[in-house]
Amino acid sequence: MPSEKRPTKPLRSADWFANAERIDMTAVYLERFMNYGLTPAELRSGRPIVGIAQSGSDLAPCNRIHVELAQRVRDGIRDAGGIALEFPMHPIFENCRRPTAALDRNLAYLGLVEILHGYPIDAVVLTTGCDKTTPAAVMAACTVDLPAIVLSGGPMLDGWMHGERVGSGTVIWRSRRKLAAGEIDAEQFLEAAAASAPSAGHCNTMGTASTMNALAEVLGLSLPGCAAIPAPYRERGQMAYATGRRIVEMALEDLRPSKILSRQSFLNAIAAVSALGGSSNAQPHLHAMARHAGFELGAQDWRQAFDIPLLVNMQPAGKYLGESFHRAGGVPAVLSELLRAGRIDGACASVTGQSLAHNVAGRSSNNRDVIAAYETPLMDRAGFLVLSGNLFDFAIMKTSVISDEFRARYLSQPGQEGIFECRAVVFDGPDDYHARIDDPALEIDEHCILVMRGAGPLGFPGSAEVVNMQPPQALIQRGIATLPTLGDGRQSGTSDSPSILNASPEAAAGGGLAWLRTGDRVRIDTQRGRCDMLVPEAEIALRKQAGPPPPPPPSQTPWQELYRATVGQLADGACMEPALKYRGVAAASPP
Ligand code: FES
Ligand code: MG
Repeated sequence: MPSEKRPTKPLRSADWFANAERIDMTAVYLERFMNYGLTPAELRSGRPIVGIAQSGSDLAPCNRIHVELAQRVRDGIRDAGGIALEFPMHPIFENCRRPTAALDRNLAYLGLVEILHGYPIDAVVLTTGCDKTTPAAVMAACTVDLPAIVLSGGPMLDGWMHGERVGSGTVIWRSRRKLAAGEIDAEQFLEAAAASAPSAGHCNTMGTASTMNALAEVLGLSLPGCAAIPAPYRERGQMAYATGRRIVEMALEDLRPSKILSRQSFLNAIAAVSALGGSSNAQPHLHAMARHAGFELGAQDWRQAFDIPLLVNMQPAGKYLGESFHRAGGVPAVLSELLRAGRIDGACASVTGQSLAHNVAGRSSNNRDVIAAYETPLMDRAGFLVLSGNLFDFAIMKTSVISDEFRARYLSQPGQEGIFECRAVVFDGPDDYHARIDDPALEIDEHCILVMRGAGPLGFPGSAEVVNMQPPQALIQRGIATLPTLGDGRQSGTSDSPSILNASPEAAAGGGLAWLRTGDRVRIDTQRGRCDMLVPEAEIALRKQAGPPPPPPPSQTPWQELYRATVGQLADGACMEPALKYRGVAAASPP
């Protein structure tokens, strides 16, 4: 049944297709759509024209399920009385894009803004999945401010090998350690990686992809329950259909991101990412989405959520994968727990036209081993620790993945000291790390912290997921599998090392990391949120006179140069700073 609603305001597509004053232009606009069979009558019928922003392709395999799901989205759009126009987004494939997929979030954002602004589109379905596709699409939706709904492609099925779950990403980090320790060979490494990817879908761990899709749902931008449905499940196609139906109504209701998102929506997301054991990449992406929506997030917002417990038992923080999470109730069950504990605001709006609290009413965990109750969590105080000091103004540490031993040693419990010092071993970028990590002259032992600089948005460029460095082989063979790490780049959401990440400003932007040298002492005070190099001011001044560390590599492509010219720091979301002054560019009026 088509929606019986009438548009609350004239549809912008009418300016192209039903403009009585410019029949010459109307004719030009209309004629070429006919070459695949659309009729002028359809395009001029006053029905909402709904874009499907297609993020899947052969180059973006994590999102490739959307190539098929789009048919169910179209069915939903058509049945509700809309007309679907599908178009491609710039592909983003996290694992494959060189030098790093992080470059492409802002590029895909930019491309989508131009499409939505410049074509006759009244509303859009944002197809998301792989890490950066979700923030890129949401950032663009905020800039154009057209009615928009997120459709996740869903995670892959659970991976299994030798009777054990193997999760995407986590299997790579663990296998690397096993390879270094001589426990497996190269063939077994490949076999483990393949076992972790048994079907269509994005990473099946609570890595960046599952985190960002869950957060889109928390922000109220997708239908309840959308994020966690595995890609091959029948519910995924049904969700695609429901999403297509709902976006037509949203177009008629003129329900835009600016009417859904508030600063509180983003505070809800910060609370949720801790309970989910979500990726540290959520920090820059949430800040970026919030800023494009007109809200600022800061260190204090993360500090307030630090005591949120870990509720979701999913790799890398726990043991299960996407299928179990979905079956246990998915994001609505987690939101129910947080709502009951008073840690999120249920009054926030959503694409359903109803509040978050209304959307998740009656949706509770049906497997406490997978989604725990707030009172009996998997881990207390599992949020992100925010640090600052003379090495950087802002960095975060994900605490839910840190081993019990590390937590006991380094993380302050209430009323406990929580200060630790280590000897810094400094690397200038990933190549330097790979070249020198096993060099005995570095004298790396269990009292060291591995430091990576030159890995931020300007330095790399794009900001690389390289801060999670493995200790030297000799240490691993002695049974020391992880060392604390620190850096101005990011960490893969599926790694489990204790790391201080996203340090801003980065060394290449003049941050304090630039003046750190191997052998310096670094003191971390988790109680006071400090991280400092114990180097006298006078000595730092001398080092500044001696000159900065090696300059970043030159840009290899035009976009890398443009990216560097416009990008901000990870603390601020690594946005294209000049883009932030644009908001509501398509909603206000046709171009
Ligand atoms: Fe694409 Fe993980 S690599 S979702
Ligand atoms: Mg990743």
